[in-house]
Amino acid sequence: MLYFGVIGHPISHSASPVMHNAVFRTLNIDAIYLAFDVKPESLREALFGAKALGFKGLNVTIPHKEEITKYLKLRGLAERIRAVNTVDVQSLEGYNTDATGALRTLESYNVDYKDKVVLIVGAGGVARAIAFALAGKSTLIITNRTESRGLKLVEDVRVYGDCVFHPYDRLEELRGKFDILINCTPLGMRGFESRLPVPESIVENVVVFDTVYNPIETPLIKLAKKRDCKVVYGLDMLVYQGAEAFKIWFGFDPPIEVMKKAVMDFLQSISTS
Ligand SMILES: NC(=O)c1ccc[n+]([C@@H]2O[C@H](COP(=O)([O-])OP(=O)(O)OC[C@H]3O[C@@H](n4cnc5c(N)ncnc54)[C@H](OP(=O)(O)O)[C@@H]3O)[C@@H](O)[C@H]2O)c1
Repeated sequence: MLYFGVIGHPISHSASPVMHNAVFRTLNIDAIYLAFDVKPESLREALFGAKALGFKGLNVTIPHKEEITKYLKLRGLAERIRAVNTVDVQSLEGYNTDATGALRTLESYNVDYKDKVVLIVGAGGVARAIAFALAGKSTLIITNRTESRGLKLVEDVRVYGDCVFHPYDRLEELRGKFDILINCTPLGMRGFESRLPVPESIVENVVVFDTVYNPIETPLIKLAKKRDCKVVYGLDMLVYQGAEAFKIWFGFDPPIEVMKKAVMDFLQSISTS
């Protein structure tokens, strides 16, 4: 049997176990994927413990994505981002499939991001992964509530492509000046503030990608649909980052629809429980 898991703190609502176990069942792979609550002070022990136990793969989530890089050989975009969400445990190689998964998501909706102006709202882990994934392909405008954090991300990303900062309290000025809006804040997430991450006035004639996936239809997605904007769901990014992880571990693409259905059923079950 092959062993997989996701490590984070807290971890209780992770959709990754249902998503990967559904694929294992469908493809008759003798493997299991579990969620492990690992406190920051136990991260090193957890990683090397998993290696000693023969684990094949791990996903990594908040708050460990950056800290774990010091124990790993970074591969692909993880080297630029300095954050890892997928580990090949036996080789201790770290990857960032939030970045590659976000690009695959845009491509799956036929969103052409090359040479387009992309407004990224937020400067945390997801914003960082997406900004590095798009750097050099799109022109990036980053905005963030805490200006210093936004400016730091701009400084890091600028090495690889056009990227500027715009103040979060002056977003109205950007009306008509960008093509794709990507929300990388938790605004609209279940249990968080249910408000829009940007002023209504700028949600017009743009593609709207909300990385928030719970609920699937966020306030931003609802507004974008009302305004006839093309929408891209955070749910798809969750699925594609998982699919990219699976491909790293197994060397072939998993069935996307199986993963998507498992996640949708899971989100449905936690929203009614
Ligand atoms: N679809 C997927 O696969 C996927 C995967 C992971 C996460 N996500 C979504 O992405 C969201 C962000 O995750 P993360 O890991 O990047 O989190 P993070 O590192 O904590 O970053 C959060 C970002 O949101 C901003 N923010 C938080 N509260 C805000 C508020 N009240 N008003 C304005 N800005 C606010 C923060 O700004 P400051 O710098 O000012 O604090 C920061 O830029 C999650 O909540 C989740 O819904 C989606």
